[in-house]
Amino acid sequence: LTNIDGYNMVSFRQPEIVREIFYNIPQLKCRHDDVFVCASSKSGTHWTWEIVSMLLTGKAEIIPKSKVAHMLEAMLTEIIDEIPSPRVLNSHLHLCRLPREALEKKCKFVFILRDPRDVAVSLYHHCKGISLYEYDGMFENFLPLFLEGKLEYNNYLEYVAEWEKALEERSEIHLIYYEDLKTNCIDEVRKLALFLGVTCTDDLIRDISYKCSFEQMKVEKEKYPLEELRQPFFRNNFSMFRKGATGEWKNTFTVAQNEYFDSMFLEKMKNSKLLRRYT
Ligand code: A3P
Repeated sequence: LTNIDGYNMVSFRQPEIVREIFYNIPQLKCRHDDVFVCASSKSGTHWTWEIVSMLLTGKAEIIPKSKVAHMLEAMLTEIIDEIPSPRVLNSHLHLCRLPREALEKKCKFVFILRDPRDVAVSLYHHCKGISLYEYDGMFENFLPLFLEGKLEYNNYLEYVAEWEKALEERSEIHLIYYEDLKTNCIDEVRKLALFLGVTCTDDLIRDISYKCSFEQMKVEKEKYPLEELRQPFFRNNFSMFRKGATGEWKNTFTVAQNEYFDSMFLEKMKNSKLLRRYT
């Protein structure tokens, strides 16, 4: 972990570069047509990034570019500056750490939420599968790190609370639940198109939903050398497209872990309009 003023980051880059990127992000120059895809790590960022990119290009074709090349905390500001419009940028950073101009210029944001228990399971495999995390522990040891906000991007509930407040105040943020995208992708893609102001046919919406289904994306995306930046750090057969399921936590959490989760998260989730559906 690179700790920057109390904020935990993990990167395939040198710590001084990570620091430089992190400090530059708030000053990033934004354009009116920039779209920001934001979610906590492992909540469906790759999936949504692909859908938004397809909607903006008007083609149901897998983008031969990597999401990570459009990720604020992964790329140097100079590189982000050179991306042609319309840019589909993405980040797992807390809202207060994102480019200030994005909020001032009322750029569009797509925010994705996923059951935090599934996020924890997915993140566990992520940390074990990428050598940078140097993590070899068991899930029972990992869960406290997630719940106590000791992993990269710090505290999950604080992260969601910040977005919840912004969603109440701003109309340029569109909320998507991973679970809804999974069960009713076509409707969610249609709503997303409307939010983005993209006119498209029912055929295109159907084709995008299909092309972005887990099975299709896994096969297609893994064909491209899209992970050129992160690939060297992948252990064994690690893939960013692992299972793509909902409710996997039920097969992972023990009764004791579930009780522990509830003791740390449940009350706060009940008090959150966004997270209440998971209680
Ligand atoms: P799992 O580890 O549970 O499989 P992110 O992109 O924010 O890092 O999130 C990664 C999670 O989203 C992984 O979850 C990954 O498999 C899942 N995912 C990626 N593409 C998906 C798709 N097209 N449909 C459903 N889930 C997808």
